[in-house]
Amino acid sequence: MPFNRRLFIQKLSKIGVLSTLSLPALSAVNNNKTNEKNTFIAGPYLQNLQPNEVTIVWITNNNSLSWVEYGSGTYLSLKAYTARNGLIQANNRINKVTIKNLKPGSEYKYRINSKEILHFQASKVTYGEPLQSIIYGFKTPAVDVEAFKMVILNDIHDRPQTIPQLLYKHGYTGNTRDFDFVVLNGDCFDHVDSEEQVIDHLLKPCAEVFSKEVPFIFVQGNHEVRGSFARQLPDYFTYPTDKYYYAFTRGPVRFVILDSGEDKTDDNWEYNGLAAFDEYREVQQKWLENEIESEAFKKAAFRIVLIHISPYHSGDWHGTLHCRQLFGPLFNKGKIDLMLSGHTHRYATHDADATHNYPIVIGGGPLEGKRTLIKLHATKKELNLRMIRDDGEEVGKYSIKKKFV
Ligand SMILES: [Fe+2]
Repeated sequence: MPFNRRLFIQKLSKIGVLSTLSLPALSAVNNNKTNEKNTFIAGPYLQNLQPNEVTIVWITNNNSLSWVEYGSGTYLSLKAYTARNGLIQANNRINKVTIKNLKPGSEYKYRINSKEILHFQASKVTYGEPLQSIIYGFKTPAVDVEAFKMVILNDIHDRPQTIPQLLYKHGYTGNTRDFDFVVLNGDCFDHVDSEEQVIDHLLKPCAEVFSKEVPFIFVQGNHEVRGSFARQLPDYFTYPTDKYYYAFTRGPVRFVILDSGEDKTDDNWEYNGLAAFDEYREVQQKWLENEIESEAFKKAAFRIVLIHISPYHSGDWHGTLHCRQLFGPLFNKGKIDLMLSGHTHRYATHDADATHNYPIVIGGGPLEGKRTLIKLHATKKELNLRMIRDDGEEVGKYSIKKKFV
């Protein structure tokens, strides 16, 4: 279904959750330079929060110079810019500022700043009025954090109200967030056609509920690779290696994130000759071969794979079978403990069997009554998972104890 801005605003006001949103005029979003006053049109939102660093992202409607003020105490005494090849990033709208050398397990406060660039000449830059946000906070995880909580949403498919509805209803205990980070496990969109869609269907609902202070991990699904704006989508996220496939450690868990790619063959008419997912999956296989031999992978108490299309129980489509052929033997060899997926739109849990020696949990969606929030609490001894349907019914449960071998 094509994106309908008017309908979207009506939906937001109906659910009454996103009342503070101020949507910019259409013309203000996609052009690099507008006649409108400079404003923050999305964010800030946290990406790639690690023990020593975090990336803070926000979007201005006009080209700007942007920076973050931050500090670990009462004062925001430090400043961070982004620089590349000796140049401080400026004259841009999508602002990503990485703060490095943070202390693990510490609380920080920050605020974002942007100054519109009115004229950029070789010897003189003229600025407009400065913009400054209110103060937000985040906490870096300790390197050896004993426990953490995460929640997983999947297959939202251009229904932004799902984010506040699931998180406010099932992600909180009273007024307190019951999670340290959020995973969006693929297919947030039907297809991606504009920055406005990315902002209104993903960035704003996330920022409204959590992402100014708690990060999200965007896992690419097969619908994110469709549409005229799909090639710009990675510009809005930050990953440890600038790729959609990577690994990271959080306390007792080694996470492996893979991109399962499209579901049909690369030569399918729907992709107009613009798909190269077979090769992409093969590159990921090589990377995964090394990852499962790494010390970080081997010494972790638990290993969890996040992949939008599970290689099993996801039909006999090409993408499923190719993932099975390439990744399946490596997942077994690496002795992963759990796989979290989406894609089928039918929530289900699948115990270990003759083909995969770990449980697979597939979240549901996107329609009401089929949507799920997967909640995972990890400690050094145990993974506790509950899958909650949007009406509050528990539809999946695992308790996975650490194996001592
Ligand atoms: Fe999908």
